[in-house]
Formats: sequence, structure tokens, C-alpha cells
Amino acid sequence: MNDQEIPFGRRGPWIRTPPPGPVSSGLAARLSEVESRNVTYLGPDFPVFWAEARGANVRDADGNEYVDLTGAFGVAVAGHNHPEVVNAVQEQAPVLTHGMGDVHPPARKVELLERLDALLPWPEGRTVLASSGSEAVEIALKTALLATDRPGILAFQGGYHGLTLGALATTAREDFRHPFRSRMYGGVRFAPFPADTPESGQASLEAVSLELDRARRQGEPVGAILLEPIQGRGGVRVPPAGFLAELAALGREHGALLVLDEIYTG
Ligand SMILES: Cc1ncc(COP(=O)(O)O)c(C=O)c1O
Repeated sequence: MNDQEIPFGRRGPWIRTPPPGPVSSGLAARLSEVESRNVTYLGPDFPVFWAEARGANVRDADGNEYVDLTGAFGVAVAGHNHPEVVNAVQEQAPVLTHGMGDVHPPARKVELLERLDALLPWPEGRTVLASSGSEAVEIALKTALLATDRPGILAFQGGYHGLTLGALATTAREDFRHPFRSRMYGGVRFAPFPADTPESGQASLEAVSLELDRARRQGEPVGAILLEPIQGRGGVRVPPAGFLAELAALGREHGALLVLDEIYTG
């Protein structure tokens, strides 16, 4: 039983009706009439529509309350509807809601990027703001190509990097790739993502090394090694300690940049 004395935002879970409840199911039926079927997963167990959130709690459309241990993939890592975030949005919205791309950037953007820059662990960082994970991956891959002049990409089995055409080529999910195969960049190689043991890490590094050599011999040198530091959608797979550092070193030997997709891990 939920203790209703404790404010919403700080309380434990409270299930009134097994999710998805009738309101969620009704919304799913309506959504399926108006949204393209590639966006929301429609099955017996999902979607569960969210109606409201605060702090650690989310309330679904049927009134069930949850503790969101994911922080909504990190988007709400400061807590849902954190007062400082809400205040900042309310302050800015009546002043200027958007700029105009490359010619009329919003004045406040400078302040934001300066603050992000101050958080970076290296000097003279440069930022590109993006609105989705796929977009961030595409930006990273383009940056790696510009920096190395090597078009090849090495990604990992089980990895998920998004569904836009460039990112999709690096996402190792056949169900998503299959319909778009004819449009996808073909220069992506996949190596096994290691289990959390030193032996598995070593085997993965050897496979990476072989692929990097093979790519060079075939005239498609790899400029970007792309991976999630912990695979998220692939099943929360953690590589062994030291694996990422060794992978980065291997990349340096072969002239390839290590690109960490931290969309899921934060
Ligand atoms: C690791 C990772 N990269 C990229 C993406 C793509 O993000 P988006 O769906 O915002 O394009 C996701 C989405 O789940 C992800 O988990």
C-alpha cells in the first residue's frame, strides 16, 4: 500500500490496476490509428502511457505510480520536473523559444556551451547540440571521418545506435536493418562485444584487431570504432575492466578514433 502522506515524487510504487490498464490500452488503440507503426511498440505488455511525473515517481494514465529507476534513460537524471529545470523553461519560454539555426543562434546558447565546455575533461572542447541519440551518433561518425579521412566503421554485435540511416548501419539489429539494407552504408564491420571476463575481453580485442587489419588490406580503413561503454538495449552488458582503454589503444595504433555512444548509459 502506498503511503499517501508522502508527497508524489518521493514515494514507493502503487499499482491500482495491472499495467497496461484500460486507459493505456484505449490510448494505444487510438494511437495506432494516427501514428506510423514504426514509432511506438504495440503489444500486450506495452505501451504504458505516462500521464505525470515528479522527482522519482511516474504516474501512468491509469493512476498507477512507479519509481523510475531509469531516470527516463537519464533524461530525468536530476528527477522528473526538477524545479530548477521547470523554472528555467518557464523563464525562457516567453522570452525566446528558438533561434534560427546557423544565422540567428539564440544568445543564450553561448552561455550554455561555455558551461558545457567547462565540464569537459580536456581543453578546447567543441560541442554540437543534438535532439536525439541517432543524431548524436551521426555527428560523431561524420566528425571521425573528417578527422581521419577513413570511411570505415567498426561497431559491435548486440549494439544499438539508433535508426536514422547513418546510425542504422551501425545498429546490429537485423529486424531494424533488413527493410533498409539497400540504402545503408556498407562499410561497417561488427566485432563481438565481450562478456565481463578477461578472456572474453581478450578474444574481442583480437577480433577487433583482425577486422582492422582486414579493412586496411581491403582498402576500406576504419576511422571510427563505435560502441556503447555498457550495452543497453543489448541486455545491459558490461565489458571487463580495462577493455575500453585497450580498445582505444588499438584504435590509435590503427589510426581509428574511439567513439563512445553514451546515450543509454549517460
Ligand atoms: C545507445 C543508444 N544510442 C543511440 C540511441 C538512439 O537514440 P534516439 O532514439 O534518441 O535516436 C539509443 C536509443 O535507445 C541508444 O540506446
